[in-house]
Amino acid sequence: MECRICNSTMKKFLDLGMQPIANNFLVVGDILDEFFYHLELFFCPECYSVQVGNCPEKEKIYHKGYTFYTSTSNYMARHFKELADDIKASVLEKDGFIVEIGSNDGTFLKNFRGYKHLGVEPSESVDSMARKKGLRTWNDFFCEELAERIVEQKGQADVIVTTNAFPHMIDRISVLKGIKKLLSDTGVWVNEEAYLGDVVSLRSYDQFYNEHIYFSSVSSFKKNMDLFGMFLYDALPMDVHGGSMRYLVSKVPPVAKSVRAFENNEKLRDFEHFEKFGEAIKESRKNFLHKVFDAVGNGGVVGYAATAKSTTVLNYCKVGPRLVDRIYDTTPAKQWKLSPGMHIPVVPYDSFKKDKPKNVVLFAWNHYREIMEKEKDMDINWIIPI
Ligand code: TMP
Repeated sequence: MECRICNSTMKKFLDLGMQPIANNFLVVGDILDEFFYHLELFFCPECYSVQVGNCPEKEKIYHKGYTFYTSTSNYMARHFKELADDIKASVLEKDGFIVEIGSNDGTFLKNFRGYKHLGVEPSESVDSMARKKGLRTWNDFFCEELAERIVEQKGQADVIVTTNAFPHMIDRISVLKGIKKLLSDTGVWVNEEAYLGDVVSLRSYDQFYNEHIYFSSVSSFKKNMDLFGMFLYDALPMDVHGGSMRYLVSKVPPVAKSVRAFENNEKLRDFEHFEKFGEAIKESRKNFLHKVFDAVGNGGVVGYAATAKSTTVLNYCKVGPRLVDRIYDTTPAKQWKLSPGMHIPVVPYDSFKKDKPKNVVLFAWNHYREIMEKEKDMDINWIIPI
């Protein structure tokens, strides 16, 4: 496969089998028409990026049935409030213009009421929530042409923010050209995304699914910026979503020491590293299956949080409703539906404490602290799926 960023030949290191669309929760009538694609992971030896090979079209994913709402995690809402406060204190003047790409239900952008702001969000389900909050958004896919329209109608942005959105955008070349056109000469692009170093060290292969198409180390992110004539001037590790990195990018040259240090220390530039990672994932599947089989014979198993990540794990390990009875989840749009591919019933979280399940797979392991605090009164054997 050809690298979508630099056109070099990529090398495959992981095959996660046939997978459904991760956030596509189903009603019974949808089962026969369910769409599957082959989920394979590739490494680019030239720009060091990791990419999902074969992806369903973006229109199949981001539409009025899209069910991921950023506001479902209080911890993330707090994290975004802190990011907004940082931006106001350091880079955005009161009369500045901020654009969020992938603004979802407005959880981040609502902190900029009273500022000149714009959200861009292709999924109507979540975008309509943002508009109900009184935020200005465009319901569209971001690309170079859309960036030109924003500049024409509203001017260049002083701050552009993408959080867990940039790796989702398959048309990376057009998106980067668009960001470069949209960003003012003194502006800052703040981008947060899962960090490849953490994915490898935690073996969190459940981060791989049709929405997360690109994974970067600091070295590969910097190479990518170099290629497009932008400057990565800082990289800050973040303890969210199972290990993330906040990248600060500008159109002028400074490169912070932190970026150089990552470049010198990261061991994420050799294919052998990823081959070993691929083998470790097979081990992870065996371990998970052992734990589930043990627990099935010892009180039964349920799931906690019908995350997109759970789709990858359940379909790769072929774990269905005969092993995991049901998944409890707080998102109304997922409740009383079936999980993608494996068709495990998703039920409202409300009855979780009353049902007192004994063995629970924590699919939202990236919200571990928040959930352990919430469930500290329960006596549960937690199973981490990765
Ligand atoms: P995601 O990992 O794909 O972002 O999905 C998060 C899902 O987890 C969302 O449907 C809400 C659910 N969830 C719970 O049910 N309980 C919780 O405590 C948390 C943090 C999330």
